[in-house]
Amino acid sequence: MPISQSTVQPINHLDRDYLRHALEHDVRTGLTATPKWLPPKWFYDEVGSDLFSQITRLPEYYPTRRELAILRARAGELAAASGADTLVELGSGTSEKTVLLLDALTEAGTLRGYTPVDVDAVTLRSAAHRLADRYPGLAVQAVCADFERHLRLLPRTGRRMVAFLGGTIGNLDPAAREVFLKELRDSLLPGDTFLLGADLVKDRGRLVAAYDDAAGVTAAFNRNVLHVINRELDAGFEPDAFEHVALYDDDNDWIEMRLRASRAMRVRVGGLGLVVDFAEGEETRTEISAKFRPEGLRRELAAAGFAVRRWYTDPSGDFALLLAEA
Ligand code: AVJ
Repeated sequence: MPISQSTVQPINHLDRDYLRHALEHDVRTGLTATPKWLPPKWFYDEVGSDLFSQITRLPEYYPTRRELAILRARAGELAAASGADTLVELGSGTSEKTVLLLDALTEAGTLRGYTPVDVDAVTLRSAAHRLADRYPGLAVQAVCADFERHLRLLPRTGRRMVAFLGGTIGNLDPAAREVFLKELRDSLLPGDTFLLGADLVKDRGRLVAAYDDAAGVTAAFNRNVLHVINRELDAGFEPDAFEHVALYDDDNDWIEMRLRASRAMRVRVGGLGLVVDFAEGEETRTEISAKFRPEGLRRELAAAGFAVRRWYTDPSGDFALLLAEA
């Protein structure tokens, strides 16, 4: 008998060819568009995942702490209401909040399996090992995948709770969210549930501060996408020549992160045979992080065919955690 099940090989839907192809496509599309943009999923190599982990501990970055507080208070109720034996976690990262759910499902006596799903293979593997060691007998099946592309391919065994925590749903624009929620809804079997964490609209000063911290960690996280492109696509970005910008767009209810060229630059992306010109002050959008109003979020879920069964917020009303059924 193995000591733990941590030796189970991750299922990998993101082999080198796939990743390369997707990155090439995104970088070519985004950097030849006007205005320029890059999708946030490319922040998360090993360094980027670590920077994000540091962000979650910053005084300005409230979402992680708020969601943890809700989970601490409600994990038991959520576990019982779900009846789940398998936790599937989309965008699991370092799986720091996961133990609260795994403990609650253990307590409820139902827990059998954990399926973390993430784009970063390194972070995924170490989280899977850590949890397999901590929960002997837990069937940990890590899946390296993109939750915007591979929902159909996730394991469907057991009675699943599919968790999408941290407010990551806010990284999808409204159209992408609609597609994501419908696909997720269609992939659920009777008895499965969806646990969603979403950041709520609040005072813009606090929102902007959460994405523009005094220590500059978010700035480093933002610039990391340029390091990733330099390394993977043989590009010549000077990350320090780009300034971190975080702003709140209150027409769309979302935070935008951008990288602003501090001077005019011509950047070669060798792997694409592409030359990209940046004007002084030109901004490239690297992330949207949507903030939700309760009515709006409920409407989006209902439109995708979800029935909300539990809805919790932290005492300050900053963040929402909800359990829905297909
Ligand atoms: C991991 C996507 C939830 O949008 O708040 C943190 C990422 N970006 N600081 C977020 C992030 C800048 C984070 N999510």
